[in-house]
Amino acid sequence: MRPVFGGIDFGTSNSTVGVMDGNRPRLVPLEDASITLPSAVFFNFEDDSIQMGRKAVLEYTEGVEGRLMRALKSVLGSSLVHEKTRIKRRSIAFTDIIGLFIQRLKTKLEADAGSTVDTVVMGRPVRFVDEDDAADAAAQAELEKAARAQGFANIAFQFEPIAAALDYEQGVSREELALIVDMGGGTSDFSVVRVSPERARAVERKDDILANRGIHIGGTDFDRLLSIAHVMPELGYLTPTKDGKRNVPAGYFIDLATWHRINLLYTAKVMSDLRQVRYEAARPDLIDRMIAIVERRYGHALATIVERAKIALTDAEAASIDVGIHGATFSAPLDRKGLEETLVDAVERVTETVGQTIRDARLDPSDITAVFLTGGSTAIPLARRSILSLVPEAKVVEGDMFGSVGLGLALDARRKFG
Ligand SMILES: Nc1ncnc2c1ncn2[C@@H]1O[C@H](COP(=O)(O)OP(=O)(O)OP(=O)(O)O)[C@@H](O)[C@H]1O
Ligand SMILES: [Mg+2]
Repeated sequence: MRPVFGGIDFGTSNSTVGVMDGNRPRLVPLEDASITLPSAVFFNFEDDSIQMGRKAVLEYTEGVEGRLMRALKSVLGSSLVHEKTRIKRRSIAFTDIIGLFIQRLKTKLEADAGSTVDTVVMGRPVRFVDEDDAADAAAQAELEKAARAQGFANIAFQFEPIAAALDYEQGVSREELALIVDMGGGTSDFSVVRVSPERARAVERKDDILANRGIHIGGTDFDRLLSIAHVMPELGYLTPTKDGKRNVPAGYFIDLATWHRINLLYTAKVMSDLRQVRYEAARPDLIDRMIAIVERRYGHALATIVERAKIALTDAEAASIDVGIHGATFSAPLDRKGLEETLVDAVERVTETVGQTIRDARLDPSDITAVFLTGGSTAIPLARRSILSLVPEAKVVEGDMFGSVGLGLALDARRKFG
């Protein structure tokens, strides 16, 4: 049987699977004809089914009773990694939910290949956890364990931006020093790589990888920052208590604004805490909105509305965040300027990381001949402007926004296992 060279890009927001088709990589259809699968799992409490991807989001949006999980990859680098979450009467480890999702990706790869597949290269961000090597290694180990539990026997890891570089390299006609920029949902990852048609054939590429760096800031963080700045105040965040001595507790609002923490609010304990908060609040009318959103399990829908406004502002100058459920009806205006003011510090930290990556490579910015952009968050004009200003002379190459990493992982699988 011919070996199958496959790669899995388990993304914070979207996942892809690449496979070698002769000499070329291609992406495997994961949900009907779509080559991306939104990294979402929905536990349907009505018929006890488990849905993934767009179907998961759809059932949740249609109001089916159940539990939606998003940004599961963010859990790998957080304190939640060893925790369980309640699904009806059962407790399930977050890593087992990640396992279910990987199983779906594996099944699709096997259906495409027409055989079982036990070998894979998995993508990983340069950093799962910033500035903590032990926690970072633990995050990769958890991901590996989850993949092994699904029947992958041979698992290798590759940095996501290196995979993107391998994809880019297929199209270059001469040697280049490329800066690879992959800004996704959870992390922003950078590599400086020497690419060329001749080097592409070499198995060992250590010498061509001049630097790798990553930072745990991505699109889901932008959603959180926008929500905290523009939506949470509408729910009572930062309002004082009646006695004027302090503000209402912030933690509930931060959790509601953070994709992978939303489900933590859906407990009887939090509901009763919020009623107490309302009792003590100077603006109970606003806390009522918070209560309505938590009670109706509207957290992911709210995060989606914020994300949509962010994406709209990539092309438009103005948008608005409109919420209209029973008990919480309001509209928060948001324009490009407001978005940029909210995101500027985070984008600056990302840009500093890019600068550091170029310095790690011991290069002058003018040595970089090409910048390869991939990942959904590279669409944000502020991020693009800020990063490209570091390398004004380089040629800008638009990668496949959602597919480059998956394609490169398949190329890497042939390199590693071929
Ligand atoms: N046009 C756009 N403008 C701004 N942001 C966008 C746009 N399109 C997608 N995004 C954002 O891009 C992110 C998803 O990008 P992508 O699919 O590359 O991430 P990922 O691979 O799942 O995450 P990671 O690589 O960090 O694990 C989301 O946060 C989404 O909101
Ligand atoms: Mg990605």
